[in-house]
Amino acid sequence: MPSFLIIYSSTDGHTKVICERIINFLNDENLVELVSLEDAKKIDLSNFEKIIIGASIRYGKHSKELYKFINLNKNILDHKQSAFFSVNVVARKSEKNTAETNPYIKKFLKISKWTPKKIRVFAGKVDYPNYNFFDKYIIKFIMFITKGPTDTSQSYEFTDWSKVDDFTKELKNNY
Ligand SMILES: Cc1cc2nc3c(=O)[nH]c(=O)nc-3n(C[C@H](O)[C@H](O)[C@H](O)COP(=O)(O)O)c2cc1C
Repeated sequence: MPSFLIIYSSTDGHTKVICERIINFLNDENLVELVSLEDAKKIDLSNFEKIIIGASIRYGKHSKELYKFINLNKNILDHKQSAFFSVNVVARKSEKNTAETNPYIKKFLKISKWTPKKIRVFAGKVDYPNYNFFDKYIIKFIMFITKGPTDTSQSYEFTDWSKVDDFTKELKNNY
């Protein structure tokens, strides 16, 4: 039975929701453990066959902790069936929603120097009602200039769940 470790690096929870969707789609045929990046530091990664890391973007960056974690565990990640996905709202645009075209993936590969065996990018969520004053108006401004939604009383989920499910199907196979 293949064993999966799924690690999420998330600020507002949407990356974790995507991980939960992956787990539901993997179903009972697989042993799966879901942990935050913080908790992953306490885990022996060698116990798992497949390691998947999902991380969101905030103000143009994946978290510093993510890069530290990858740097510390690069050797083991390189020898596993590993996968990485990034969650950001730039990916709501069709011309920026693949590993090859999303600017954050390019940056991630360059900084981390890790080449996961599978790489994906998923569009995230703009959750205005849950943002603090500062974030709300910065995001509203970014949305305005990139022709996105600007009504701050609403949440907007851009995730293409069929894309997440297709990724999960691939994770079940050997790669
Ligand atoms: C304060 C803040 C800054 C963000 N900056 C960016 C950004 O620079 N580029 C982008 O594509 N998305 C950006 N986003 C969108 C997030 O990546 C998106 O909301 C994602 O779903 C967040 O995932 P999480 O809930 O797992 O943290 C930002 C969101 C917030 C709240």
